[in-house]
Amino acid sequence: VNQTPPPPNAVLLNPGPVSVHPQVRDALAYPDVCHREPEVAALMANTRAKIAAICGGGNAYTGVLITGSGTAALEAAFASIVPPKGRILILDNGHYGKRLRDIVGAYRVPLSRLEFGWASRFDLAAIDRALAEDPTITHVGMVHHETSTGMLNPLQEVGEIVARHGRSLAVDAISSLGSEVLNIEKDNIDWCVGTANKCLEGLPGISFVCAPRAKLRQLGDQEPRGYYLDLYRHFVAQEENVPAFTPAVQVLYAFDRALDLTLTETVARRGRRYRDCAAELRRGLDRLGFRSLLPAQDMANSVTVAHLPSEISYTALHDALKRRGFVIYATQPKLGPTVRIANMGQLSEADLVAFLEALEEVVHDLRGAGTGARTM
Ligand SMILES: Cc1ncc(COP(=O)(O)O)c(C=O)c1O
Repeated sequence: VNQTPPPPNAVLLNPGPVSVHPQVRDALAYPDVCHREPEVAALMANTRAKIAAICGGGNAYTGVLITGSGTAALEAAFASIVPPKGRILILDNGHYGKRLRDIVGAYRVPLSRLEFGWASRFDLAAIDRALAEDPTITHVGMVHHETSTGMLNPLQEVGEIVARHGRSLAVDAISSLGSEVLNIEKDNIDWCVGTANKCLEGLPGISFVCAPRAKLRQLGDQEPRGYYLDLYRHFVAQEENVPAFTPAVQVLYAFDRALDLTLTETVARRGRRYRDCAAELRRGLDRLGFRSLLPAQDMANSVTVAHLPSEISYTALHDALKRRGFVIYATQPKLGPTVRIANMGQLSEADLVAFLEALEEVVHDLRGAGTGARTM
């Protein structure tokens, strides 16, 4: 049997899981505990309230916790919220927009789709028209930060259109919550899906859906389409202070700590921290010949997708940076020779400076290697 390799101890520049605060990692060492005891009930109740606060929801809103990655909470939401006679319109401009469509398709939820093309902006007039023309559409689903391209989609504007047409908005906020402006009430969101291990700076294994309690209660009128990911089942159980199934309790303790740190820093200040970091990163990339995929005004605070200079391959770049202690991330093949660099999590100014220095060295070496290979 092969031994699992030791941890690389690298700075993570992938879009989650992120480098976490030591207090978050330490919280994982919570003593062995039974998930049906009052201490875990209190943990779950607190965590659910903190999620609602971070989403900008008042007392009428709550978080429903799901043990699983972000996709588990997406599936719980998108498989549960549309009634049998309803229809959801999916807004798609990238890999995660397509995933929403794939999830609702897998559950045979009646579906319409507006596809704008990867790295292309939403056409707000087309969304308005689609809702005006099709009264059978009851719900709209969208990704806030389309992590595949780094594009921040216009949540406030879509929320206004959806509310004006009296429909219900479900948002994948998995890579935006914690660093982008989002207010579940003001933005007219009914269903907001998030995860622990991106801009909320927790560890992987817990995700959630935040929604008004009244809307969650109404789900009880519908037949569930699934069992483990039936959102109503989780909601009812958590309202009664007993989880429906065994949650990843220690990961939840770590998430609770991460939420405290988020609330203390505030989402606004974290957003500024990420934005300043991204700006420095983008200036550094630009200097080295990595052209951004998107115009600056379309980019979220935490992900940069850039074209690779022609003489540099992603694999060579990744491997050389990994040897120097930095993990970068690939893009989907559809975008061509590009690289994705995220600045989520506990990334210090010193980490960023060290990364840009390492990048400069690696680019220099790889360009030299390329020239050498051609002249041989
Ligand atoms: C916008 C978005 N949605 C969904 C997911 C899927 O999350 P997970 O890999 O945690 O299931 C991701 C992951 O990067 C994401 O960025």
